[in-house]
Amino acid sequence: MKQAHSFPITGVVPQGKDGILLSFGIPSEHQEDFIFKPGQYLTLRGGDDEPVWRCYSITSDPQINNGISVLVKRVPGGRLSNWLVDNAKVDGHVELLPPAGSFLLARPDNPVLLYAGGSGIAPIYALARQALEQGSAQVRLFFANRDSDSVMMRVELSRLESDYPGRFEVVFWNDQERGLPTAGDLTRPAEDLREADVYICGPDPFMRAVHNVLEEFGFDRARLIKEDFGAAVQAPIDGVGVDLAQLTVQLNGQAHEITVEKGETLLAAMLRAGLNAPHACRVGECASCTCRLESGQVNRLDSSVLDEDDVEDGWLLACRSFADSEELIVRFL
Ligand code: FES
Repeated sequence: MKQAHSFPITGVVPQGKDGILLSFGIPSEHQEDFIFKPGQYLTLRGGDDEPVWRCYSITSDPQINNGISVLVKRVPGGRLSNWLVDNAKVDGHVELLPPAGSFLLARPDNPVLLYAGGSGIAPIYALARQALEQGSAQVRLFFANRDSDSVMMRVELSRLESDYPGRFEVVFWNDQERGLPTAGDLTRPAEDLREADVYICGPDPFMRAVHNVLEEFGFDRARLIKEDFGAAVQAPIDGVGVDLAQLTVQLNGQAHEITVEKGETLLAAMLRAGLNAPHACRVGECASCTCRLESGQVNRLDSSVLDEDDVEDGWLLACRSFADSEELIVRFL
């Protein structure tokens, strides 16, 4: 089972006017668990009164054994992001879960078209570097930001441009100067790269716009790959679980009585009831919502996070489990 550990912060480098590149040292005894692929993310925990888990994409190179870096940007209401930007200091500590995520290059040696909005540059930068290292003949990036002071990873992108002349190209887009990109602005970088695989990361409206425009432009859906961070709470799945269950959630030394509706995950029920239940990815990847079944029964969807022994020991992911008895109790450690 994936377990969280507290790791030392080894670097805090400002990125744009409201972001940081945050680096961690990984002690040798944990290095195997922290092997990662470009495009994956780390799940971090921190905050003042009620710490929360959140996912942040990794920017560092997996081939360079020198810790792990993630990009963090201040956002309205971003409890952990804003806390990290304000408080992260070298030699401080942050709790981390091992890397996860499936936003990976399908064909690293194929031409690659990348679209990033704001801090969405983090995994996109990692994919660009991997594609260039692994022989892609053409990597083109459309990088949209609100204004030029907000641009993150500028130095790192320039370095890629000078390391791979003629193979890597960045189109910077500044909303403040040019307004939101039109369909024509978004398709222009794709005109002579129609055989490319496309990777998109950024705010939801940006990702939707790029996806729709490129699909209309003739790109097959299967080649339009989005990083769907913070996906909405999973929609109810018809027919899974009992009609209505009474769930007792033991969390931070307190017991909370809530109901779980048919087809609703335990995590969705906890969030609907206003509980500060640990969670981040909501799609069964990060392990932050791991809790233990103390009594009752659950129906678990498949997940790569827990193995058979974990399940036998009663562990479950709240975001991938449904109530399968009328009463049940789960406990978060
Ligand atoms: S919230 Fe990430 S595994 Fe459940």
